[in-house]
Amino acid sequence: MSLFRKKSLSILLAQASDSEKGLKRTLGVGSLVALGIGAIIGAGLFVRTALAAGQHAGPAVTISFIIAAIGCAFAGLCYAEFASIIPIAGSAYTYAYATMGELIAWIIGWALILEYALGAATVAISWSEYANKLLGGSIPFEWCHSPFEKALDAHNILHQGIINIPALIILLLLSLLLIKGTQESATVNAIIVAIKVAIVLVFIVVGWKFISPANHSPYLIPDNAPDATQPDGSLYSYANFFRHGWGGVLTGAGIVFFAFIGFDAVSTAAQESKNPKKDMPIGILGSLVVCTILYILFSWVLTGVAPYTDFLKAGKEASVAYAISTYMPGYGWLATLVTIAILAGFSSVILVMLLGQSRVFYTMATDGLLPKIFCHLHPKFRTPYKSNLVLFVFVGLFAAFLPESVAGDLTSIGTLFAFVLVCLGVWILRKKDPGLVRPFKAPFVPLVPILGMIVCTAMIVSLPNQTLLSAFVWMVIGLFIYFSYSQRHSKLKVPGEILPDASKFQ
Ligand code: ALA
Repeated sequence: MSLFRKKSLSILLAQASDSEKGLKRTLGVGSLVALGIGAIIGAGLFVRTALAAGQHAGPAVTISFIIAAIGCAFAGLCYAEFASIIPIAGSAYTYAYATMGELIAWIIGWALILEYALGAATVAISWSEYANKLLGGSIPFEWCHSPFEKALDAHNILHQGIINIPALIILLLLSLLLIKGTQESATVNAIIVAIKVAIVLVFIVVGWKFISPANHSPYLIPDNAPDATQPDGSLYSYANFFRHGWGGVLTGAGIVFFAFIGFDAVSTAAQESKNPKKDMPIGILGSLVVCTILYILFSWVLTGVAPYTDFLKAGKEASVAYAISTYMPGYGWLATLVTIAILAGFSSVILVMLLGQSRVFYTMATDGLLPKIFCHLHPKFRTPYKSNLVLFVFVGLFAAFLPESVAGDLTSIGTLFAFVLVCLGVWILRKKDPGLVRPFKAPFVPLVPILGMIVCTAMIVSLPNQTLLSAFVWMVIGLFIYFSYSQRHSKLKVPGEILPDASKFQ
């Protein structure tokens, strides 16, 4: 059945080794780990830690991080196995093409758009918010918010957003950087990563001295916790099952999951890696381990410095700067530095998300499932520049006209969906082709993939119904495009057959 025609592994491997006309192989292991950290540490840590602590998990948000990290670790091991076998730019999409067939591959590719394109849009919206804060709120509300957002100003005048211009500006600048070259982008990314990791470490080290043990006790929010006051003066009750104790910790895990999104983006750069078989697993798992350690320490310090109820009323976005200026006397300078580092940090997340998206499109277009424009390489820079420009328009539309929360939840669902299918794919390939050379092997298969699928599915189900519905609509649109365009243009004409223009590799 042509819906389940698969791309043969031998073709994929031949394509991967054809570095002459394809993307440039410039990234070493250090750049790959930096690429992962660049994509991972962002709004999830600097915005959602306080949100999860204040509303659901309290100081035990550290446990929420551990739970989310465990889910990601299962998926990460599966990604690492695939990335070492099939070091091709398409990541999860390519793995599915080889194991589960074209239709599932298309579905994953379509879900990855939610992860990367909407992820970039989400973080660009947060970037705009912080940039405006740094500028003292001088950008008029109308020009830095989506038409779906309204707010009262100090004079009680209602403002409605029109378009988010700063988000568009940062997206344009980063798209231009990506066109210039992957190596250049990796260098800028490495500098930003150094800045943001340094600031996280400084916060952990300096903040440690200001931890008040009372803030960590009780560690889980008790079921009889008193109501807390919100910014609009209303009360927030912790009585609901998902707002205290272990229920709250689990919901917190769903919220901070966003903070881990991005480690899989390393696998999209596989075709630009100098030694993908060895370096891909290190890049993926290494960045995941580094970030998990930083997250646990960071959340321990943040909830130790400030009582969790503060995060309900004190600017969720600027929670870190708030904790420093309120509870760490003498460190006001650190609050400003943190804001600057956060802006830089957001930029690298957007950069890697845009990189990942263009590389997935590149591979899908090479396979004929998307128009050729997405795989045209720049004659000099050898980057998919047309794709970068189209993407800027596409991502820009979301960033300019959507609120952050809508884009953020859709990002999580797209990512989790891809994780589930990657776990399934590893298991299928082990059964189908046990003798295949696997430079990196996920341990305890099928236990690890099965646990990965369970944890990620549980997180999908815990997302709001509205998000699930939007994702469903997105998938229906994707299927429509597949049957009306992609299936007919696929280069894989015959089940199990080779790609016509890849025959020379045989
Ligand atoms: N993990 C990325 C962030 O937290 C998406 O911004």
